[in-house]
Amino acid sequence: MMSYKIKNLLKKKNKTKIVSLTAYSNNIAKILDKYCDITLVGDSVANVLYGMENTHEINIDTIIRHSKSVKKGIKRSIMVVDMPKGSYKTPLQAKKNAKLIYKKTKCDAVKIESNNKNFKIIKEIRKAKIPVMGHIGFTPQFKKKFSVEGKTKIEIKKLIKEAQLIEKAGAFSIVLECVTPYAAKIVTKFLKIPTIGIGSSANCDGQILVTDDMLGLSGFYPKFVKKYANLNSLIERAVKKYSKEVIRKKFPNNKNYLYGK
Ligand code: KIV
Repeated sequence: MMSYKIKNLLKKKNKTKIVSLTAYSNNIAKILDKYCDITLVGDSVANVLYGMENTHEINIDTIIRHSKSVKKGIKRSIMVVDMPKGSYKTPLQAKKNAKLIYKKTKCDAVKIESNNKNFKIIKEIRKAKIPVMGHIGFTPQFKKKFSVEGKTKIEIKKLIKEAQLIEKAGAFSIVLECVTPYAAKIVTKFLKIPTIGIGSSANCDGQILVTDDMLGLSGFYPKFVKKYANLNSLIERAVKKYSKEVIRKKFPNNKNYLYGK
C-alpha cells in the first residue's frame, strides 16, 4: 500500500516536475516543506554538517537523530531518509534497519543506493510495507572515483536495466546522480516511476540538490549546483557586525535589556 502522498507524486510523471531538496534539521525542513514534493534527509549530512571526507562514516543513529528533527518541520512533503552505508548489506539487515528508521523517525520512505545487485534488498524492505527510493549513476556509498555515467551505449543499457530492476523490485522513484542528459532522457522514458535528477539535466521527472550547496553555505559548488543565495557571505557580514558592536559596546543597548538600565 502506497500512501496518498506517494500516489500523488506518481501522478506527476509526464505532467509536473517534482521538486526536492535535502534537510537535516527542522528549521530548514519547515521552509522546504512549503515548496518541495520530497524532503530528503541525505547521508550528505556527513560531509555537509560533520565535515567528514565522504558519506561512509555516518551511522544509523545520527541519521535517525537528524530525521527526528526534520520530521518536526514536515507537514505535506514526502520525507525520505537515506539508509547509511553498511546498514543494508543483506536483505534481512536492510529490513530490520529500514523498520527501525521508519518507526523511530515516522518518515514516509527510505532511500538506498544501488550497487547493481541490491534489488532483493528493495523487495525485502517493500515486504515490510516501507516505500523505497532507488539511487543510480554516481552512488557515493559504493563508488570511490567520481565519473559521469551513461556516456556510451553500453553504459546507457546498463543504467536502463538497473533502473528497471529497481522499479520491478518495488521502488516508487529513483535518483539519477550525474548521468548524461541523454541517459537521463532514456532512463526516464523507460520507467513508469519518476526519476529525480542531480547533475543529470532537465530530462528527469524532477530535481534534487543539497540545500546547503544551493544556498551557498557548504563551499561545494560543482557546475550542476546553481547557487540561489550566498548565505556564507550573508552570515559572515552579520557575524562581523555583531563582533564590532560587542567590542565597541554598541550591543547590547537599552533596547535589548530585559529589565531596568
Ligand atoms: O545524500 C544526499 O544528499 C543525496 C542526494 C545527493 C540525492 O543522496
